[in-house]
Amino acid sequence: MTEKKLLRVLKGEAVTSPPIWLMRQAGRYLPEYRKIRAEAGSFLDLCYAPKLAAEVTMQPIHRYGFDAAILFSDILVVPHGLGQDVWFVENEGPKLAAIQTAEALGSLDPNKLIDRLAPVYETVGILASTLPRETTLIGFAGAPWTVASYMVEGGSSRDFATAKSWAYRDPEGFGTLMNILVDATARHLCAQIRHGAEVVQIFDSWAGVFSETAFQRWIIEPNKALVARIREQFPNVPIIGFPRGAGIMYSEYVAQTGVTAVSLDTTVPTGWAAKNLQTKMPVQGNLDPLALLVGGDALEIGVRGVMEGLSGGPFIFNLGHGIVKETPPDHVETLVSLVRGGSV
Ligand code: CP3
Repeated sequence: MTEKKLLRVLKGEAVTSPPIWLMRQAGRYLPEYRKIRAEAGSFLDLCYAPKLAAEVTMQPIHRYGFDAAILFSDILVVPHGLGQDVWFVENEGPKLAAIQTAEALGSLDPNKLIDRLAPVYETVGILASTLPRETTLIGFAGAPWTVASYMVEGGSSRDFATAKSWAYRDPEGFGTLMNILVDATARHLCAQIRHGAEVVQIFDSWAGVFSETAFQRWIIEPNKALVARIREQFPNVPIIGFPRGAGIMYSEYVAQTGVTAVSLDTTVPTGWAAKNLQTKMPVQGNLDPLALLVGGDALEIGVRGVMEGLSGGPFIFNLGHGIVKETPPDHVETLVSLVRGGSV
């Protein structure tokens, strides 16, 4: 049997037609997702219902034949598994009972994490045994800083003022939270791999908010420690890093963290990435999700730009960030045929 295309690219092969999957490929833009979601109750209930979570993971595979399925779950199951209150408010997003001092960290219970998240690993197991044989199964987690930002801010934030202030004012106390997250995230990702994830992606969605020294301390170092922890147990499992918004610090992230491949956000120029990043490791990205939403010429021009910029080396086609929920499903169909070189 020939090896799956996504895994070949992650070993450094440049293939003629790139493998494709999309961040947030399962979700509210699909009517079949909205149906299951309504049946499941809350979003977290769906994350912890293995049969339904496996079903929604597979929905975009059935529709579009993507080269990878990404586990249906969320980055915030880790704080939830650590014992923090987490809930999702319709049309507002995640809410958490904010933790803002070193003393409050005592309320977290790392020992129960893996038991609490058992349904997630059960979902991975179902997927591993039912996926088509050409499809790669991707597990994931949030990076320590991105998850910490939600834990400290109590939800989404515009400027991360509370979390950044804690990090600058009390690096030792904030560092304790980050260490808890490195450890918990490593165990969470290793459990996914043990149950059948073939690749893992680490989402550092809010990597782009720090000064140079703070980037080294709160982005590079925790990601490097996390990658090292996974490699101790699984030296050969590819790890994709996504330091969204890192700008020219993408170079340092690639040089220092030990990831196998790097996912580019939409603002990274493809010519620069081809020269400075893709010479060191495979790259993934980076169509603007808004070009996909709009469709038509904007989509064609966007796809052409990404393909021309990155097809000279190992490359996985993806968006520069998650798919937007208003995206018409037939634009995704068009995207897949453009990337695969068929007629539209
Ligand atoms: O990519 C996939 O299809 C796999 C599933 C996945 C989800 N969230 C499902 C989800 C993945 C990989 C994530 C990652 C995630 N979650 C990130 C990192 C990537 C990024 O987008 O930057 C972050 C920051 C979160 C936290 C989160 N979860 C937020 C801020 C929100 C609310 C915003 C929104 O889009 O509603 C969520 C909810 C969420 N996660 C939904 C889905 C399908 C929508 C919930 C619903 O169905 O009501």
